[in-house]
Amino acid sequence: RQPAQSPLFGILQAASDFYGNALHAHPARQTAVQYLGKRGISKDIAGDFLLGYAPPGWDNLLRELGGDSLKEKYLLEAGLLAENPDSGRRYDRFRDRIIFPIRDSRGRVIGFGGRVLGDDKPKYLNSPETPVFHKGQELYGLYEARQHNRQLQDILVVEGYMDVIALAQQGLRNAVATLGTATTPEHIKRLLRIVPTITFCFDGDNAGRKAAWRALEATLEHMKDGISARFLFLPDGLDPDDLVRNEGAEAFRARISSQSQSLSDYFFRHLSEELDLDSLEGKAHLATLASPLIGKIPGHNLQQLMERQLLQLTGLGISQPRPVSAPASQPE
Ligand code: UTP
Ligand code: MN
Ligand code: MN
Ligand code: MN
Ligand code: MN
Repeated sequence: RQPAQSPLFGILQAASDFYGNALHAHPARQTAVQYLGKRGISKDIAGDFLLGYAPPGWDNLLRELGGDSLKEKYLLEAGLLAENPDSGRRYDRFRDRIIFPIRDSRGRVIGFGGRVLGDDKPKYLNSPETPVFHKGQELYGLYEARQHNRQLQDILVVEGYMDVIALAQQGLRNAVATLGTATTPEHIKRLLRIVPTITFCFDGDNAGRKAAWRALEATLEHMKDGISARFLFLPDGLDPDDLVRNEGAEAFRARISSQSQSLSDYFFRHLSEELDLDSLEGKAHLATLASPLIGKIPGHNLQQLMERQLLQLTGLGISQPRPVSAPASQPE
């Protein structure tokens, strides 16, 4: 998965230190400090998450850490520099952005997210895939959550860096985020090695609802009996950051416990959404959609119960499809 040793770890740590120091001491830091203040982030939480600031300018990091050609090569490999394909000129990837260092399970910095301070696009920039940074496997905030609580019982999966940090700010220290990618089976496998309960809580918009279904698909193949995956859907237009800042930690916790749906409930509700289950056609369609997915569930008990639920809804089990070729009963 990830090399035990790599010269990139050192340069990534040095870059993280550089961004962290800039947030405290760079002459241009005020806008960044104000921005974090406006979003309600304390020095404490900023420190726990190693938040930093990439100052404006094309070559701050390059000049600070570039030094010789080998160091420059590492900066490039670590995704900290970008290269103009025509001129070959190299420049800092992250400029005038709030920096979110991403750490692996051992606490080593492996990549960064960077947010603009205003409304420029793209809003977030992430490190590219590198020998030490694989987006489909890493979860932002997982290291920090485990540092804070060695006996995590459940984990909340959200979309964004700011969701993780705002939740932590309000005392919900068990949130992690996928890194601008869909939830993958590898993400789920990692989480389930740590906790038996995962709650997905994505933004209250179409992208968030799509992300929830993708997360369900990634989770199915890991649904052993004893595992619980739940889904919390948020009011339109709001994300966990908005909500927890508006209503506070207790109300947010209450939402999780009283409004989240089990994987099986969400499964049948979502698949039935556009179907008329009073018609045979609707029942047939549901069985077609649900059968192969239920077939992926490794938990025998859960699989049986969902099969029974499908039977109740449609009258159909997930029996093997009939052979399409002619019946084999022809006499020789
Ligand atoms: P959102 O657009 O929901 O971001 O994207 P957000 O965290 O709510 O943003 P603000 O700061 O509160 O306005 C969720 C996540 O998707 C990835 C980032 O990881 C972000 O945190 N993303 C989003 C990108 O990678 N690039 C983008 O341009 C936007
Ligand atoms: Mn690798
Ligand atoms: Mn979103
Ligand atoms: Mn959001
Ligand atoms: Mn947001």
